Amino acid sequence: MNAHRVAVVGAGTMGHGIAYAAALAGCEVVLTDSWSDALPRALQRIGELLAAGVKRGKISDGERAGVERRLHTAVELEPAVRAADVVIEAIVEDLAVKQRLFAELERTAPPGALLASNTSSLSVGAIAAGVRAPERVVGMHFFNPVHAMKLVEIVTHERAAPLAVDRAVAFARQLGKEPIVVQDSPGFASSRLGVTLGLEAMRMLEQGVASAEDIDKAMELGYNHPMGPLKLTDLVGLDVRLAIADYLYRTLEEPQFEPPKILRDKVARGELGKKAGKGFYTWSE
Ligand code: NAI
Repeated sequence: MNAHRVAVVGAGTMGHGIAYAAALAGCEVVLTDSWSDALPRALQRIGELLAAGVKRGKISDGERAGVERRLHTAVELEPAVRAADVVIEAIVEDLAVKQRLFAELERTAPPGALLASNTSSLSVGAIAAGVRAPERVVGMHFFNPVHAMKLVEIVTHERAAPLAVDRAVAFARQLGKEPIVVQDSPGFASSRLGVTLGLEAMRMLEQGVASAEDIDKAMELGYNHPMGPLKLTDLVGLDVRLAIADYLYRTLEEPQFEPPKILRDKVARGELGKKAGKGFYTWSE
C-alpha cells in the first residue's frame, strides 16, 4: 500500500529534497524543523526546483500546483507527524540528538507509522536503541541532490521488522527511486565502496602513477563512471571524505580505509575542494 501522508523532520539540504520528491510523487507532506528560518528557506528552494523543472519541461504547471498544494510546514513536531504513514528524519548527524528525536517520534507519530532515518554514517541500530519498538525503525539513505539522485540505501538492522524494510523499499519506489537493501554496517554500501575508490585514487596520485585528470579519466572513460573519484572528492569536500575515511578506518580496521597523507595535508591547508576553490583541482566560480 502506498504511503499517503509523509512527515519530514529537518528541512535542510536533504530534508527539502525529500519533501519535494514525496510531494511530487503525490504524497501529502509536512515538513518541520527546530530552526524557524529553515522552513521558509526550504520552501524557497523547493520553489526553485519546481521553477527549474517547469522551465526544462520536466514538470507540468499542474504538477507544480499539486506539489504546492500538498506541501505543508509545521513549526512544532507533534502536528507535523501525528497523521503520518511515514516519517523521514533528516536532522543533524549526531547520534544523541537523533536518539532523542526518535524517542519523541515514538510518542507523537501514529503507532503504525514507519520511522526512517536519512543518516549517512551512523548506526541505524544505535539510533533505534532508544525506541521501545525498534522494529519500526529503518535507514533510508537518500543522496544529494535528492531530486536528481536515483539511489536510496535502505538500511536494515538486527531488530528491524522485515515488514518495515519492505515498506521502506516500496516507499522509495513510490518516490521514483531505486532502493538497495544494506545491513547496518559502517559506510553502508555506497560510502564504503566510494571512499575506497577515492582513497586509492589519492594514493596513486601521491605515488605519481598518473595525473589527477588522467586518474579520473581512467574511471570516466574506462568504466563509464560519470565522474572520476578525485573530482567527486572535490565536490563532496575533502574534509567530509576525510571524516568518513577516519570513521571507516576506526570501525572496520582495514588498511584500505587509512586516509593517505595527501588528503590530510590538503585538509590541513584548507584545500577542501570546490567549496574552497581548490582541492585536487582548482575551481573558479
Ligand atoms: P542540514 O544541516 O542541511 O539540515 C539539517 C536540518 O535539521 C537543519 O535545518 C536543522 O535546523 C534541523 N535540525 C537539527 N536538529 C533538529 C531537531 N532536533 N529537530 C528538528 N530539526 C532539527 O543537514 P543535511 O545535509 O540535510 O543532513 C541531514 C541528514 O542527512 C544528516 O543525517 C546527514 O548525515 C544526512 N545526509 C546528508 C547528505 C548530504 O549530502 N548533505 C547526503 C545523505 C545523507
